[in-house]
Amino acid sequence: MEAKKIKKIGVLTSGGDAPGMNAALRAVVRTALSHDVQVVGIRKGYNGLIAGEIVDLKSKDVSNILSSGGTILHTARCLEMMEEAGQKKAANVAKVLGLDALVVIGGDGSYRGMQKLSALGINCFGIPATIDLDMQSSEYTLGFDTAVNTGMDALNKLRDTSNSHERCGVVEVMGRDAGYIALWCAMCGGAEDVMFPEAKEELDTKQIIQQILKNRSTGKRLNLIVVAEGVGGTQKLAEEIQEITGIQSRATILGHLQRGGSPTAIDRMHGSMMGYHVVEGIMRGETNKVVGFNGGKYELIDLDESFEMEKPLDQAVYHVIKTLSI
Ligand code: ADP
Ligand code: F6P
Repeated sequence: MEAKKIKKIGVLTSGGDAPGMNAALRAVVRTALSHDVQVVGIRKGYNGLIAGEIVDLKSKDVSNILSSGGTILHTARCLEMMEEAGQKKAANVAKVLGLDALVVIGGDGSYRGMQKLSALGINCFGIPATIDLDMQSSEYTLGFDTAVNTGMDALNKLRDTSNSHERCGVVEVMGRDAGYIALWCAMCGGAEDVMFPEAKEELDTKQIIQQILKNRSTGKRLNLIVVAEGVGGTQKLAEEIQEITGIQSRATILGHLQRGGSPTAIDRMHGSMMGYHVVEGIMRGETNKVVGFNGGKYELIDLDESFEMEKPLDQAVYHVIKTLSI
């Protein structure tokens, strides 16, 4: 059977923003236009779909955005979409708009929303975007590299001041449920220890303090400890370290600082390639797929099957951090 002629594609960004979303959006728009397909942007994630906040996107509407963090379409966490009534409204708007495909640039939650829409007859395509890297269907998710570089830069700076004062810096990085950012920041920023949600053995304050004292006894003049947001207790940990060891300690919480910034080359490259591959898939007549970067290649994966995939965090990274931080 000949593939249905694609005339109109919708695109939205959803969930937490991530550097590289704009690169993906630009690629979706320009690849679609290269096939003479009309593209409409849906503002503010699923909120905008439900409310019908639509803008026509031409090539020049995505000029000068490759280098910008955030998302020019804006994003949202949409409560209404969690309910069946909201999902039906969203699907209805997509039908009224005559969308032959809807591209969602977002994280795991956004993919769940897509799954609901696909069950209601909307042809949905996903581009993985979250600084947390915690999506099973792709080894890479847009925003991660930029966020880690921001965290690493902060650790570099904290190393300078911690060294000058011979202090201990306790740094909290983003990641409510996932420790990828924490592990990468700890490794690349040369931290001595890292607390992350998936840790096999729960690390307690006592063990961290023992490590700090041991490292001081072998000549370390500063300490850097990374804590993932999901573990928390960063301020308290710094206070306890100071109280028990007598080493002046300071807590720094990076928070949403890590979500902004000009995307790195990695995020621009993956954003552009993923946007391109999704549209090419749509043009070939694929239905309900998500793009993944796996084993060095871009692939389109069935949306439902993408939830069955697994991407366990490599616990060995923690062992290496510990081995190298003596
Ligand atoms: P992310 O996409 O970055 O993981 P969220 O988890 O906040 O961010 O999800 C983004 C949005 O996707 C939510 O605000 C909601 O509108 C929608 N969503 C999340 N989970 C579901 C679900 N189980 N069913 C329908 N929609 C969902
Ligand atoms: O999912 C990305 C992320 O930045 C997490 O690391 C963090 O826990 C969460 O979003 C914060 O969400 P919000 O922007 O809604 O505070």
